[in-house]
Amino acid sequence: MGISVDIVHDGLAEQARPLVDQLIADKVASKLAAQDATLWGPDAQPEASIRLSWTTLHESSRALVGEIEALQAELAGEGIDRIVLAGMGGSSLAPEVITATAGVPLVVLDTTDAGQVADALAGDLSRTAIVVSSKSGGTVETDSHRRIFEKAFTEAGIDAASRIVVVTDPGSPLEKLATEAGYRKVFTADPHVGGRYSALTAFGLVPAGLAGADVAALLDDAAAAFKLLSLDDDTNPALWLGAAWGAAHAQGAEKVILADTGSGVKGFPDWAEQLIAESTGKQGTGLLPVAVENADAPGFVTAGTDATPIAIGPDVDAAFMSTAGELGGLFLLWEFATAIAGRLIGINPFDQPDVEAAKAAARALLDKPVGGEEAAPNLTIGAVEVYESGEWLPATATTLADVLNAFLAAAPDHGYVAVQAYLDRLDDASAAVLRPAIARASRLQTTFGWGPRFLHSTGQYHKGGHQNGVFLQITGAVAQDLEVPDRPYTLGVLQHAQALGDGQVLAEHGRPVLRLHLTDRAAGLVELTKAVQEVKR
Ligand code: PA5
Repeated sequence: MGISVDIVHDGLAEQARPLVDQLIADKVASKLAAQDATLWGPDAQPEASIRLSWTTLHESSRALVGEIEALQAELAGEGIDRIVLAGMGGSSLAPEVITATAGVPLVVLDTTDAGQVADALAGDLSRTAIVVSSKSGGTVETDSHRRIFEKAFTEAGIDAASRIVVVTDPGSPLEKLATEAGYRKVFTADPHVGGRYSALTAFGLVPAGLAGADVAALLDDAAAAFKLLSLDDDTNPALWLGAAWGAAHAQGAEKVILADTGSGVKGFPDWAEQLIAESTGKQGTGLLPVAVENADAPGFVTAGTDATPIAIGPDVDAAFMSTAGELGGLFLLWEFATAIAGRLIGINPFDQPDVEAAKAAARALLDKPVGGEEAAPNLTIGAVEVYESGEWLPATATTLADVLNAFLAAAPDHGYVAVQAYLDRLDDASAAVLRPAIARASRLQTTFGWGPRFLHSTGQYHKGGHQNGVFLQITGAVAQDLEVPDRPYTLGVLQHAQALGDGQVLAEHGRPVLRLHLTDRAAGLVELTKAVQEVKR
């Protein structure tokens, strides 16, 4: 079918037209395809010069296909057909979309929720291999999963090293450790590709291919798309998509709403969310991706063709556009468009300057004694403890609805609400209903992220982008905690520190933060969902 963009909005297409003409005159598409690092200005050039190899992965990743197939056949010969992936952000979002779309099972661990990790451990370990994916090789969540699985294999009488496959950058501490430990195989990825542009590197292809997805087809799709995406003419869909985002941004748009209305590509908005938020959300500007459930969801202001995924925006005069194509081509189209939008918005689309702040705050909390200095809740209502950061909670608030009303009243008119659930995204999946419910009640664009997963995605925008969000953190009691072998913390302590650490950083940015701690997760979620029905902004 090939890739395409449809801008179903005459005004936006008109505004994008001069930008497309300028991009053509400046030969931006062919220069980007040729990995010209000067496209984002001199400040961005040093970073861009080591971040552009993603444009030609359809060629450079080709040799991986045979290696992945060989390993998969070897593992299958040993009865190993259950693949678990430990990886955060760019190291797991693409393989999750690829495998969901292909309809092959992959257990993704991008969580510090002890219950969710315990459920992954409870699967049949005799048939399991774990792919440990980390570009830096130092990400705490992924390192914790590796330790936990290594111990579990050993305790089950399985040679752990033979079940661990590593994907990392050459020279990382993880590569060294894996080689010394004799892990099954180490795939090193091209270090000149950043996490969110790595869908077609070993980070996307190894776990997806081992799980049974046709990764050669992805590269074929990308190769076909590349020809079109390199053209300096107005048939190039990336010029239109990037220019439409750039034009909307220039008109004051701050948000891009993402919905899938039945493309058959499963979960694409979750991947695109990271690409757009981390690439553009910095220097107090950018585009906030708001992933919504479907075209009827609150926040999705207009519906259109059934070609999906869809991006619409902005806040006031909403425009609608859609993209279509096979997944390998769509990855490349959205990456080209994001890099082009970055040039138009005037930011460096390859760094993520604010991601580290939350990690540092969590590390500092982990260094303190467990339970050491935690403040008492402002209120306890049923199964929910209320913690306020900032000063927005009136002394008169006694019910959860009072608390939520005061919290939402603290949001500026064209701001947004971010719901951040540090819970089990399988067992506590019902928390996701809070997004449309709060959007409906508040009439504000509302995002939903599972913590700590979103810290490696939209977390960049929340700290680096427009400072007009209000942040609802949801944490929960840990029924059965999990030790992290040879570390001084459990998963539950780490998860708690991540929520508190990010909350601190958001509060330091002057943002209102409400943390609701569920002392009983199921009961607390019911109470909270009920309270949201009583809220009106
Ligand atoms: O885009 C990014 O760089 C991040 O989201 C990373 O992908 C994420 O933090 C995981 O990092 P690493 O692959 O180094 O473990």
